[in-house]
Amino acid sequence: MTRKLLVTSALPYANGSIHLGHLVEYIQTDIWVRFQKMQGHTVHYVCADDTHGTPIMLRAEKEGITPEALIAKVHVEHSQDFADFLVQFDNYYSTNSEENRQLSGNIYRALKANGKIANKTIEQYFDPVKSMFLPDRFIKGECPKCHTKDQYGDNCESCGATYSPTDLINPYSAVSGATPVRKETEHYFFKLSECVDFLRDWTRSGSLQAEAANKMNEWLGETGENKLSDWDISRDAPYFGFEIPDAPGKYFYVWLDAPIGYMASFKNMVTTINAKVDAGDLPISERLDFDKYWKKEGNEGFNPSTELYHFIGKDILYFHALFWPATLEYSGHRKPTQVFAHGFLTVNGEKMSKSRGTFITARSYLDHVKNPEYLRYYYAAKLNGSMEDVDLNLEDFVARVNSDLVGKY
Ligand code: MSP
Ligand code: ZN
Repeated sequence: MTRKLLVTSALPYANGSIHLGHLVEYIQTDIWVRFQKMQGHTVHYVCADDTHGTPIMLRAEKEGITPEALIAKVHVEHSQDFADFLVQFDNYYSTNSEENRQLSGNIYRALKANGKIANKTIEQYFDPVKSMFLPDRFIKGECPKCHTKDQYGDNCESCGATYSPTDLINPYSAVSGATPVRKETEHYFFKLSECVDFLRDWTRSGSLQAEAANKMNEWLGETGENKLSDWDISRDAPYFGFEIPDAPGKYFYVWLDAPIGYMASFKNMVTTINAKVDAGDLPISERLDFDKYWKKEGNEGFNPSTELYHFIGKDILYFHALFWPATLEYSGHRKPTQVFAHGFLTVNGEKMSKSRGTFITARSYLDHVKNPEYLRYYYAAKLNGSMEDVDLNLEDFVARVNSDLVGKY
């Protein structure tokens, strides 16, 4: 039986350019996909722009355009960057799509029918000038520990302390400068705390790298303990995203619909391919069945011969190893076959930095170095199956390209 693989890379945010850090992941996935295709397997590699959330909404506002116009512009840019780095997606879509709206709504309704959604009233900072609730990163103030000014709502860049935005001294809104007020609001939660036993089993089932499974243990703890809290999946208007079906004025938090964007991109591809089959432009053997890739065992459409692989960076492991499998499990969907997490890119041993000139966008690399294969080769030579960081040492990069590619190959 030929293997049928559905493969994804994480969906890049639609409010910034693709940089060399992102490319670690897309190049790693692309190489793996090409290898699987060369083995004769059926492989579908899908991705999309991650388009929802407050940062994108505010960025569009700042540029004086609609969020839709911003994400359309970025979609063109991202697609061109990936194409020029020879990353061959079978579909590159958007989370702001009709497919994603429907799938997200259906999954939410299924979770609710399974008793996994709860409402709670919480208190959050509210910007009285902008009339909006503020995410942690849009609240600034003085660090409660070392008293450095202008620190973000969750941690201090000066002394490294972590805290909650309510601990900040003289907090102010990074959007309007106004002093935020505390305000009550009703939010929707996914009862993740009830999924602990399932997640303990799943994270230890071999679908994660050993180091990733160990990391998740920090949240899951031992039998009997419960360290997981319920997951807040709603945000108040104004928010650029999908309105929750039965809750006017409430929107899905971007991280609820983002991984569903993997499904939506695949669904969109299935529709396009099947239309070509119907028109006689593709052979009937190319016809695809969405359910075969996503339905859980015991549900109609389930097919045991399909496999699902996610490539991600270590910073978003929590979402892919806890929220996502639980969302799938309790909405009648299959779980990932494997999640592959990679480390972060450093340049000359340090975090990429604009001031050191080591924050390099995909476009800037292409403008100066021209050949994308140099970087693809360098990453391929350095990457492995671990979550260790990958260093792009610029002198070593030149030496390796000259010696291996120019000299030997
Ligand atoms: N939008 C989310 C992912 C949603 S997936 C359902 C996101 N976007 S991102 O643009 O910040 O990152 C996209 C991917 O690139 C992530 O897997 C992230 O780990 C990876 N990287 C971003 N910067 C990176 C480095 N400096 N080094 C290596 N990978 C990095 O997260
Ligand atoms: Zn501090």
